[in-house]
Amino acid sequence: MPSHNKLKSRAAANVVSNIQIATNIYEMVLHHDDVSRATQPGQFINLYCNGKATLLPRPISICETQSDYGTMKIVYAVVGAGTEEFSQRQPGDTVDILGPLGHGYDMHEGVKEHIIVGGGLGIPPLLELTKRLIGKKKVVLGFRDETFLVDAFKHYADELYVATNDGSVGEQGTVIDILERHHIRGDMLYSCGPKAMLEEVQPWCIQHEIEGQISMEERMGCGFGACVGCVTKVKNQETEQWEYKKICSDGPIFYAKEVVFDV
Ligand code: FES
Repeated sequence: MPSHNKLKSRAAANVVSNIQIATNIYEMVLHHDDVSRATQPGQFINLYCNGKATLLPRPISICETQSDYGTMKIVYAVVGAGTEEFSQRQPGDTVDILGPLGHGYDMHEGVKEHIIVGGGLGIPPLLELTKRLIGKKKVVLGFRDETFLVDAFKHYADELYVATNDGSVGEQGTVIDILERHHIRGDMLYSCGPKAMLEEVQPWCIQHEIEGQISMEERMGCGFGACVGCVTKVKNQETEQWEYKKICSDGPIFYAKEVVFDV
């Protein structure tokens, strides 16, 4: 993956809006010109908490940028004291951020048909990607039950499929069920979602000989390569040797064929 990383420093971003869009899920729009303009789809920012109970920053992927306005949207779940604190921020407040961090998705020229596969909270960073890709875009979004961001994807997707575990919205099944049911094929697949989903997406790509890029998740400490708290095992495609990579700075996007899930 090409490096988008440069040395960055923590900065205050202004909260433009912060609203709940589903149960325990919030959408925050932040204003910070430099970060908004520099962001590539698939990158993330560190958000810093003010509360004493939450010392580590929270890595949160960037859902969408509006570089003309210097703003970026993030979507996050309230799962603890840190994210609970974020959910209390009001327009006009500031929040400290660091970013953009990590490597985004490779957007190769000449790719004609794109398959974009997201699950749950892995869906948000795929919105900016879907917006920027050129070519035919087939988007598959998988949710447990409640959906979010579906209308936003409608603006940019040529084909949009929604699946829920129980079939309460869209079709019943997993994203793999949808890919197979509709015979969805393409030249490049981009994915982000829970590990269990990615573990199925990876062999699906290999089976169908479709190049895949997947976003890996790991509990992070620093978020920029300093603490070695986020290593994952990958296979170097040239040497065929195993290597350990830092998800935060070497990823979070890796090619599906180089990822190993059993560590
Ligand atoms: Fe510190 Fe990745 S989170 S090296």
